Amino acid sequence: MPAERVGVVGATGAVGSRLLSILEERGFPVEEIRPFASERSQGKLVEFQGRSFSCQVLRSGCFNGLSFVFFDASDEISKEWVPEALRSGAWVVDNSAVYRLDDAVPLIVPEVNEADLVASIRVGRRLFAGPNCSTVQLVVALRTIHELAGIRRVVVSTYQSVSGAGTAAMDELREQVGSDAAAAIFPHRIAFNLIPRIGKVQADGFTSEEQKLMRESRKILGIPELKIVATAVRVPTLISHAESVFVEIEKELPLERLRDAWRQVTGLSVLDEPENDVYPMNDNTAGRDGVAVGRLRRDPSVNHGLCFWVVSDNLRKGAALNAVQIAECIRKTAGT
Ligand SMILES: NC(=O)c1ccc[n+]([C@@H]2O[C@H](COP(=O)([O-])OP(=O)(O)OC[C@H]3O[C@@H](n4cnc5c(N)ncnc54)[C@H](OP(=O)(O)O)[C@@H]3O)[C@@H](O)[C@H]2O)c1
Repeated sequence: MPAERVGVVGATGAVGSRLLSILEERGFPVEEIRPFASERSQGKLVEFQGRSFSCQVLRSGCFNGLSFVFFDASDEISKEWVPEALRSGAWVVDNSAVYRLDDAVPLIVPEVNEADLVASIRVGRRLFAGPNCSTVQLVVALRTIHELAGIRRVVVSTYQSVSGAGTAAMDELREQVGSDAAAAIFPHRIAFNLIPRIGKVQADGFTSEEQKLMRESRKILGIPELKIVATAVRVPTLISHAESVFVEIEKELPLERLRDAWRQVTGLSVLDEPENDVYPMNDNTAGRDGVAVGRLRRDPSVNHGLCFWVVSDNLRKGAALNAVQIAECIRKTAGT
């Protein structure tokens, strides 16, 4: 297969910069790399395969000749520029929220629903969406439970790091630790604080982040009627999101059987020896690939229920790594 000519929109951002390094780490075959950023970064250099590349701004025709374009900028940029990338003939992997719930756009976590990607390629689709970071890790863990015991209901609370809001939010937390710097990105100071609102508050009282988690999980798992309720909380950590999850299931599922099944899932690790202080945390997931689960136990408050804790690097598996894996699946399926 020939090497690819790759565009990265948002190449200077928290996700885009990791996407460049993950392409390199995984040996994604790249013949040309074209990084895009805002006017603020025009001419700024980004490193790829030991060489420096100058960031360009988006303009008409800027995607010509590219075979893949990754979007890691913002909803507004994706809305405006994804159509142009598709017109240029590229495969497009979009990490914004714009197309995720569009019936014509597959929303993909390869470990969970690669089959949807394959089916979409067969009917000529060229645009693929990556989910919200908190959704990715949840569905990777839930898929096995659904296969083994059928999920009835999910209750999830998130503990989301500031990098979920981008590079500027990471800078804001760093600055506030040890100073009385005021809040700018977040509605309140985030240092030594928890903020129980991520995204806009909707008419039903949920936030947009909570709605994404609920709706995207239903789509990726292919369970449109899934009962799921979420509370999303911003916490003062830099990288990795954690989630406390309660799952009601159709029938009894021995805990060791689930741990064994989870161990078979590529990209999922079981860190579950709490008595030895082995469990997933920000410290042992940030900067690493995959999703980690632990603290698995039976929920005694329902007939058949489980509780567990799941953590993943939101910038890697939650965004950049997942996008690269989507591109790898496209290449494998379409034989590009
Ligand atoms: N952070 C996460 O955990 C996460 C997870 C899943 C999905 N996502 C999605 O990934 C995308 C990027 O998020 P992020 O956290 O990486 O944000 P970020 O750190 O704020 O980076 C934003 C990137 O977009 C670029 N950009 C801004 N305006 C632009 C313009 N007019 N033209 C071209 N590029 C422009 C920025 O360039 P400058 O450096 O020049 O400003 C920067 O490279 C968002 O759509 C987000 O929803 C993020």
